[in-house]
Amino acid sequence: MKLGWVAVVLLGLASPAYAQQADVALLEMGMRIFKDALTPADGGAGCELCHNWNGVGRQHNMLFADLVPAGGNDLTKSTMTREQMIEMVSCGTFDGGRIMPRFYGDAWTNAYKCYGKTAAEDALAASAAGPPKRPPQPGMRQLAPREIEAVVAYVQAVYQGKSMSLDWCLKWYGTNSKGCDNWRPVVQ
Ligand code: HEC
Repeated sequence: MKLGWVAVVLLGLASPAYAQQADVALLEMGMRIFKDALTPADGGAGCELCHNWNGVGRQHNMLFADLVPAGGNDLTKSTMTREQMIEMVSCGTFDGGRIMPRFYGDAWTNAYKCYGKTAAEDALAASAAGPPKRPPQPGMRQLAPREIEAVVAYVQAVYQGKSMSLDWCLKWYGTNSKGCDNWRPVVQ
């Protein structure tokens, strides 16, 4: 398994076209990150809490209700490019009400500016133009750049512009789950 990953990473470096081919192992890694984590070893970052297991979004989540109304966007309707999604997941955003958390530890620094700004520049611009865009952090796990690329590849391959497939439903819930019955072809 580990060797397999090395091969995927090396091939990805050698050929950008291969990297964009949305390798299934990469997408499955993205799915694990998208899930809420039952244990830290699961590796989930909790996107599911606000965007729902099938990406269609959620209006409120009790877990964060006392912090902010936490509804996440419907990702099936997203028109973002890969680069825009990587920036959104790395940097997050805040409109004074809803939070999209930031998932990259170096975001909003000189090493990785967000929407062209560091945290200090964002705070400076904020007083003139509403609240800072840099979100308060509701304690989400931080992601490495390759984890951010994986979860974005998953969002683009499984949710964006699509409806849930039986294949990905079974990957999410497990083959024996009844949770995917709505997606199974009716056998007569
Ligand atoms: C606390 C709730 C919350 C969590 C957790 C969360 N999001 Fe979001 N997300 C939001 C909200 C709210 C927006 C809308 C932000 C805006 O445009 O103001 C958003 C927007 C997005 C968008 C942009 C969609 C578009 O086209 O406008 C993407 C992509 C996204 N989230 C992916 C993720 C991923 C991947 C994760 C997990 C690593 C995640 N989100 C975790 C709340 C959340």
